[in-house]
Amino acid sequence: MKYSIIIANWKMQLGIKETEDLAEDILSRIGRLKKKVEKLDVVLCPSPSVLETVSKVFQTKHSLFSRKAKLSYLSLGAQNCFWEKKGAFTGEVSPAQLKELGCNYVIIGHSERRQILGETDKIIHKKVKAVLDTGMVPVICVGETFEERQRRATDYVIINQVSRAIEGIDLRADQKLIIAYEPVWVIGSGQAVKPEDAEYVNRIIRRRMIDFYPLPIVRNNIRIIYGGSIDSVNVKQFVSQETIDGALVGGASLKSKEFVKMISKLIG
Ligand code: PGA
Repeated sequence: MKYSIIIANWKMQLGIKETEDLAEDILSRIGRLKKKVEKLDVVLCPSPSVLETVSKVFQTKHSLFSRKAKLSYLSLGAQNCFWEKKGAFTGEVSPAQLKELGCNYVIIGHSERRQILGETDKIIHKKVKAVLDTGMVPVICVGETFEERQRRATDYVIINQVSRAIEGIDLRADQKLIIAYEPVWVIGSGQAVKPEDAEYVNRIIRRRMIDFYPLPIVRNNIRIIYGGSIDSVNVKQFVSQETIDGALVGGASLKSKEFVKMISKLIG
């Protein structure tokens, strides 16, 4: 069994109390799972204003976990960060602040940020570097739009986005990187692409990684995952594909029962 990862992206969907309740409920449910949660990393990515609250939930719920389900695999992630260490950047959050709040992962270049906030490949590149330099794992999102898919430009778009995000960035043996393939047009649509189609793109990404990094680094330090309308019904089909190491989940991660069902599918 491969070591997979499931990342919950809660976007800006919840209030502070709602986030706290959701995190508590997810952790309680994980604590009650009969099977041991092994070979699966679980990452929760709430809004920046709630990171500290969720971090506290992690600490207080720790006692609930039996030896069957240890907390060590559970991590906190952020949905974005700035690329500079500190300075006059009104409204921004530094990677160091996220680290101090207990984050181990940061989602970078989500399509909503690329499209709504105009984030460019250049910005994404700087953020990836900053996150790695701070000792966290960047989750770099890449994906084609519907129009790009229709013009059969998917391969080109993905290779380009991946290359521009990581070009010139060396990965040390103690640094990790995740690439999340998310076809923009299926995000939040309730209709994922076919697992084989996602596998095809993930293979392209893997080949590109091999161009950039030595094989042992690609094998041990890089994970390539899929996101876009993942739920408890389809998650296993995706993650059983050879080159899909996990899932980035939006809508379905907002329901504790459904999210923990996905976890149990992945460990079962
Ligand atoms: P979705 O979102 O699971 O609701 O499609 C995925 C994402 O935006 O990362």
